[in-house]
Amino acid sequence: MKTEITELLGIEYPIIQGGMAWVAEYHLAAAVSEAGGLGIIGAASAPPEWVRDQIQKAKKMTDKPFGVNIMLMSPYADEIAKVIVEEKVKVVTTGAGSPEKYMQMWKEADVKVIPVVASVALAKRMERCHADAVVAEGTEAGGHIGEASTMTLVPQVVDAVKIPVIAAGGIADGRGIAAAFMLGA
Ligand SMILES: Cc1cc2nc3c(=O)[nH]c(=O)nc-3n(C[C@H](O)[C@H](O)[C@H](O)COP(=O)(O)O)c2cc1C
Repeated sequence: MKTEITELLGIEYPIIQGGMAWVAEYHLAAAVSEAGGLGIIGAASAPPEWVRDQIQKAKKMTDKPFGVNIMLMSPYADEIAKVIVEEKVKVVTTGAGSPEKYMQMWKEADVKVIPVVASVALAKRMERCHADAVVAEGTEAGGHIGEASTMTLVPQVVDAVKIPVIAAGGIADGRGIAAAFMLGA
């Protein structure tokens, strides 16, 4: 299946695994990438050496692209941002904040940057600072996210930016994926 996202990321299916702290480790990320989606290692609040080790282990399990999620409230976010570049990780997603201060470094290293956003305002700001796509994540996802629901947020973000929009929050099966496509994701 071809979409803007499969083309951008070099994957087979437009499905991105959530970067879940202490759940999305290298086995899961590598397995999802091997299956044709985009696997993501959740860096959580782990130290940079742990994240580097996870990346190196994932590389041994798959030649396909995978990403790392940086939880921006982590005390190690600055160091992990550099590990992403040093380890030549293809894609980074970010949660719980704005990754603006890392954008230039990542773009110079040709890392694809996909911030998770919970509002139109943050989506527009991310587009202005050259994000490759955004994840519009509704409140159904829980965690550090906003109050708008996926059903209301996704079409608003789609209308507000030109970069691809990935939908998240309460999408659990093929019907949910089809609905997200209808909203413009
Ligand atoms: C256990 C768990 C841990 C998560 N940890 C993070 C995290 O560290 N950083 C982040 O950006 N998102 C985190 N998320 C959010 C997911 O990456 C994803 O965006 C979200 O789960 C999508 O919504 P859904 O679960 O309704 O499909 C976490 C989700 C779960 C369930």
